[in-house]
Amino acid sequence: MLKNCLTHPIYKIVGTVADEMGIQAFAVGGVVRDLLLGRHATDIDIVCVGSGIELATRVAHSIDPNKEVAVYKNFGTAMFHYRYNDTDWEIEFVGARKESYRSNSRKPIVENGTLADDQNRRDFTINAMAISLNADTYGQLTDPFGGIADLNNGIIRTPLDPDITFSDDPLRMMRAIRFASQLNFVIENGTFDAIAKNKERIRIVSKERIADELNKIVLSPKPSVGFKLLSRSGLLSIIFPEFEALKGVETVGTRAHKDNFLHTLEVADNISLHTNDLWLRWAALLHDIGKPATKRYDEKIGWTFHGHEVRGAKMVKSIFRNLKLPQNEKMRYVEKLVLLHLRPIILAESIVTDSAVRRLLFDAGDDIDDLMLLCEADITSKNQQKVERFRNNFKIVRQKLIDLEERDRIRNFQPPVSGEDIMKTFNLPPCKEIGVIKDAIKEAILEGTIPNEREAALQLMFSEAEKLGLKRTENE
Ligand code: CTP
Repeated sequence: MLKNCLTHPIYKIVGTVADEMGIQAFAVGGVVRDLLLGRHATDIDIVCVGSGIELATRVAHSIDPNKEVAVYKNFGTAMFHYRYNDTDWEIEFVGARKESYRSNSRKPIVENGTLADDQNRRDFTINAMAISLNADTYGQLTDPFGGIADLNNGIIRTPLDPDITFSDDPLRMMRAIRFASQLNFVIENGTFDAIAKNKERIRIVSKERIADELNKIVLSPKPSVGFKLLSRSGLLSIIFPEFEALKGVETVGTRAHKDNFLHTLEVADNISLHTNDLWLRWAALLHDIGKPATKRYDEKIGWTFHGHEVRGAKMVKSIFRNLKLPQNEKMRYVEKLVLLHLRPIILAESIVTDSAVRRLLFDAGDDIDDLMLLCEADITSKNQQKVERFRNNFKIVRQKLIDLEERDRIRNFQPPVSGEDIMKTFNLPPCKEIGVIKDAIKEAILEGTIPNEREAALQLMFSEAEKLGLKRTENE
């Protein structure tokens, strides 16, 4: 009996209206799983043996006669929003159904069915449980496939033959791996083997749906869990071959380079301890993406990946395009972090000069804190001494960043003398000399030869202009 789990008032209301209509109604699917796991959910799915649209409309009107209900006749579903506990809940209704699939489409042929038919067509045992809402059986769980046991043992398993479940709807292969990553569950062997076997069918799923699942893996507590499963099943080479290419270790003589796939996943897990920002996590996943393309073996120095940050930053655009991730400022943010990801490490390796820190602040701007997080997550050496040294130097870099930011305000650098000022002072039309003077001022501020102040910048403007043979206008 799960009465105590059903704290949301909608359950009682649905039960009462269903009783009036003389039909059975259940909470079903993901919401039952999340209720049992104590996870926060904001979507509630209701299934009834009858018309889901009619039940939805009657329930909505019993709450508020003017309540708007979105009806999707083609799908036989209806949905409305319900505010409770300062949260916007989506309550979705559907009539129990039986589905059969054809081989070339994710769209099933749908007929009315019983609760058992409805549970049969669901993806995993943990998603196929239903809780009765009718008064006489309120809170009773129907769990035909051992979903409770699988929840307790942390297992993802399909209710029917996994070949059928995945072939019917190949998106479920991504969902299996996504749930394993989100919940830290294990995929049962037969289910996993069927993913490997049916992997090619992922090609009929839209890239947007794949990206949704991939993003959920990226946002899971340890993204490495999902990415390792994607790779092991063979799905990763199909949906994201650039990431699969990070895999492997090559050896020449006694010299081997590290496995960039495992390293990257360690970095992604590290950063996930400190941020839930999807794009910062993507930056961690892509920071070394340029390594396979830049790998060289040099007799003197061994393995090098020279320029991988530049190559990697260039790859971000096409990767985002292929994965149908946004082509906007989020992408540019990831490009920037990939491009700059070595800079703080290089600083931390040598003596940290003020001018190097100022340049870093100038290039990273407001993303400096995220860049520092990425760089710290990037320290995965097993050599404890080396790690300690890096961490200490990072502390110095961080302190210098704070000191210099207070003193020089470089983060959102606005030149203290503008192009306009230069044009007016020397009566110039737009020309390259303006750029030369502005650059000289910027360089001097970053080098620390002048402070980031207008008076000092004006002085430098005059001396630079003199070198260029420019004359002040009469009225200046
Ligand atoms: N479902 C399914 N096959 C799919 C998608 C969904 O069988 N490809 C079923 C599952 O029973 C699932 C329910 O529909 O629990 C609701 O789906 P959805 O809201 O997409 O997912 P949830 O399981 O609720 O999980 P999440 O909200 O995290 O996506």
